[in-house]
Amino acid sequence: MSSALPIASGSPPDVPTTSTEASIQVRNLSYFFGRGDLRKQVLFDISLDLYPGQIVIMTGPSGSGKTTLLTLIGALRSATEGSLRVLGQELVGLGSRQLVEIRRNIGFIFQAHNLFESLTAAQNVEMAVELTGNFRGKRQQAVDILSQVGLAERADYKPAALSGGQKQRVAIARALVNQPQLILADEPTAALDKQSGRDVVTLMQQLAQEKGCTILMVTHDNRILDVADRIINLVDGRLESDASPQQYADAHAPKSLDQKMFMM
Ligand SMILES: Nc1ncnc2c1ncn2[C@@H]1O[C@H](COP(=O)(O)OP(=O)(O)OP(=O)(O)O)[C@@H](O)[C@H]1O
Ligand SMILES: [Mg+2]
Repeated sequence: MSSALPIASGSPPDVPTTSTEASIQVRNLSYFFGRGDLRKQVLFDISLDLYPGQIVIMTGPSGSGKTTLLTLIGALRSATEGSLRVLGQELVGLGSRQLVEIRRNIGFIFQAHNLFESLTAAQNVEMAVELTGNFRGKRQQAVDILSQVGLAERADYKPAALSGGQKQRVAIARALVNQPQLILADEPTAALDKQSGRDVVTLMQQLAQEKGCTILMVTHDNRILDVADRIINLVDGRLESDASPQQYADAHAPKSLDQKMFMM
């Protein structure tokens, strides 16, 4: 049973955190959709710390609140209850303009890659570079990061001429090009074949290790759970467990894992 796993209070055991400030600190976060009679609570009293260099996988049944939590942390919607510190800044109570500023430091990767169809791969990535005010070096930066995701030869192709996996890699290049301190990914490998999925998470792993960025990734893809430092499990809007991949594997025999965690 997943409920047998402990919820870590504070930092996880295998991460040196004595002198490291959490990049994400969530305290007693609750979230509601709708108003009046339609008001519905979807997140309940979430507390969580994520540290630089960590890759944390978030899993849980459909509708459990994973995307909602990710978009709150990513300053894509406003949190109103509890506390949510992201990269040293409290988000609860911030206005929309301030939230936009926070987003500049975050790389987003979504399942629907949201590329501009009329722009080439390189131009899609260059748009992200422009947000930093760097116009002169943008082409080189875009080409460099596209090479790192194995798309050097495809830099001048438009999305229509790329495969699903290649498009997702462009979206990943766009999320990574400004070397954000925080990367939020919602099912980044769902549309990819086994090898492309592996390449993508290997790249993210490198980034976490070399640049010390924090990666929070929602996935149902049990082929990539091994890249995680921690796996957190959200059920009905509540953080049900927070475990190392080994603890998680021990607690979820393959059968129950298929039935409970990956029923989509
Ligand atoms: N914009 C919205 N307005 C009202 N309710 C919403 C909205 N977005 C999501 N919800 C509800 O909030 C709950 C959590 O949704 P969320 O998208 O966070 O789940 P999820 O864990 O990401 O699911 P999945 O694995 O299917 O992507 C669901 O009950 C959903 O119906
Ligand atoms: Mg979702």
